[in-house]
Amino acid sequence: MCDDELIPPQADMTEREWLRAGAEAAPEGPAMPTTGRVPKPVNRRTLLGGAMAGAALTVLASGARPATASAAPRPGAPGAFPFPEHPNGKGEFAVLVTGDAGTGDEAQYAVAAAARDVCRAEDIGLAIGLGDNIYENGPESAHDSDFQDKFEKPNSGIDVPWLMVLGNHDCSGLIPGSGGDPSRGDREVAYATTSKRWYMPARHYSVPLPAADPLVEFFAIDTIPWSSYVAQIDPYFRWDGPYMREQRAWLDGALRASRARWKVVIGHHPYLNNGKHGNAGAYDGFTIGNYTSGVHLKDLYEKVVCGRADLILSGHDHCLQVLEPTARTGGTRQVVCGASAKTEDGKAHFANPAAWQNFSDHGFMVLKVARARLTIDVYTVDVATRKATLAHRTRQTGPVSGRTPSLAAATR
Ligand SMILES: [Fe+2]
Repeated sequence: MCDDELIPPQADMTEREWLRAGAEAAPEGPAMPTTGRVPKPVNRRTLLGGAMAGAALTVLASGARPATASAAPRPGAPGAFPFPEHPNGKGEFAVLVTGDAGTGDEAQYAVAAAARDVCRAEDIGLAIGLGDNIYENGPESAHDSDFQDKFEKPNSGIDVPWLMVLGNHDCSGLIPGSGGDPSRGDREVAYATTSKRWYMPARHYSVPLPAADPLVEFFAIDTIPWSSYVAQIDPYFRWDGPYMREQRAWLDGALRASRARWKVVIGHHPYLNNGKHGNAGAYDGFTIGNYTSGVHLKDLYEKVVCGRADLILSGHDHCLQVLEPTARTGGTRQVVCGASAKTEDGKAHFANPAAWQNFSDHGFMVLKVARARLTIDVYTVDVATRKATLAHRTRQTGPVSGRTPSLAAATR
């Protein structure tokens, strides 16, 4: 634990407070991470974090680092399901969105079964897994049987590429969910070389569709080192270490260079969130130095993503939220879809403006991308019957860059 990891808790603001403060959302320009060092007093929580991280250190892997970015769909495993090259018969790229699914229990299988029926009806060509792919601590190796029990078997029949991102449970060592051992995520990257479904060519990557002349581009990011419940000990994964600096520079450049009409950032931890974990910068009301609260992830979202991406798709909280684009987000819409195996306590804990939200049901979403609009369909699932119900639909017209969002939402 070094002094430069100690900063005060970052109080979050309501939308009204944010507007009153006159903060500027989504400035363009250089977007390298802050590296200034801000020494602050040690408190009990900080010491606890150091102790926990010290324990996590005992299981940190060492050695060469894998590549961390890619620019376009690559060939995956032999026989991997192909990326769609054309819209479906409805003129859309339809994408299944799931999150926090990897429990291997009945609820995961029920949601997947319900989603399978919807996927056939909607002719989906792609799927997304928003992290916490393998509970509780991620796989023990690239050949762990958990990949079968918690991913391949439940998702059998959803035979498309799955864009996977890392969750805190995928990168935990001694402490389930801590996110304190990011190197464990490399096993999920390695698994992608043998799976027909699981697509994770690197810890962060982008996928334009169609590749030749993209209508939409997905930017998969690794939020874990900036949101872990313990301080990162491995210098490579520290909040201001080479990995996170490289990822931030990559995302900034990739969003800037993208030729896609629609841009969608996918990552486990949300920017805004009415679930119990709360917003980035104030996760769980609990701060350990530069970690835990997600203060640096908040900075990434605000300076690199907001106003440039149309959607942020996240998990982490086990609920379904379609939040409203606002001045704070620069017109970017935050969506939380983390109820594909677990649910929450039935109530909103925070008050970010929402088009629709649900904190008690299992479910998933289908994102439909056409040139004229994005459509987000939210399905809740009855686990006992394995049946899905279309609970909400939001349509969004016109990409966020350079315009005020024009929205048409209808709730069923
Ligand atoms: Fe999580």
